Amino acid sequence: MSLPQFKEQTPKDPIEEERERLEKIVRGIPLRIGVHAGKGGVGKTFIATQLAMAMAAEGKRVGLIDADVDCPNIPEALGLEAEMRVAENGQLLPVEHGGVLIVSTGFMQKRGEPLIIRGPIKHRLLTDFVEKVEWGELDVLVFDFPPGTSDVPLSAMQVASLTGLLLVSTPARSAIADFERAAGMAKRLSVPVYGAVENMAGEVFGQGTVEKACEQLGIRYLTSIPLSAAIREKADQGEIALPEDNKNALLSAF
Ligand SMILES: Nc1ncnc2c1ncn2[C@@H]1O[C@H](COP(=O)(O)OP(=O)(O)OP(=O)(O)O)[C@@H](O)[C@H]1O
Ligand SMILES: [Mg+2]
Repeated sequence: MSLPQFKEQTPKDPIEEERERLEKIVRGIPLRIGVHAGKGGVGKTFIATQLAMAMAAEGKRVGLIDADVDCPNIPEALGLEAEMRVAENGQLLPVEHGGVLIVSTGFMQKRGEPLIIRGPIKHRLLTDFVEKVEWGELDVLVFDFPPGTSDVPLSAMQVASLTGLLLVSTPARSAIADFERAAGMAKRLSVPVYGAVENMAGEVFGQGTVEKACEQLGIRYLTSIPLSAAIREKADQGEIALPEDNKNALLSAF
């Protein structure tokens, strides 16, 4: 008679456990895109929402996560007044607009109510947005990043093992400096860059500097979107507002 065999049990590292859990969820989504700039106010939310709606119009199943968890702008950017509800199984139900499934803390907080939280709680929220939302089957998951090159952009890259980034910059000098930092972050963390978009081009901020920066950085330059009241007004109504050539150039990156 032999004695029962006891295997030595080492407790799993909780970070590694979380990574494995999330990996199982996201690996079924072929495209996981972060819209990144470094700089604030250059049109990340505008591009993320326009890209998501344009992809949905092409028949893709698209999810959109507002990763700007303490100052979420997607609801206002699309003119949406909605609340996220909780399903019977406890999962969050995304808000649907233009064929895109959207989650945002803006759908959870009252207007004017601030979320005053530190990095680890933001990380937790992003994790929940990936694993505690009733996404169904997705072809694409887009993350609308907040400004900066730490905290949330870093967490988003981790929780969704992003397949790549779409970079956005205005032609202005300060935006280009942050754009270079965002590109540097992608390089340092070995996250591919699908391409870069110049936004708000024209008389006010100039034109052509993003293309130049892309040449220097070895990044695929996609298109230059003009600063235009007509584009903003249409976008504010939650519609696809990008001129056809800009839209096609953007879609060609994926
Ligand atoms: N090409 C454009 N023409 C006109 N208005 C634009 C254009 N792109 C963006 N905007 C407007 O500029 C404002 C800032 O854009 P947006 O909120 O998308 O920037 P952001 O980079 O997401 O900002 P934040 O860093 O605060 O998240 C918005 O009101 C948006 O509608
Ligand atoms: Mg934004």
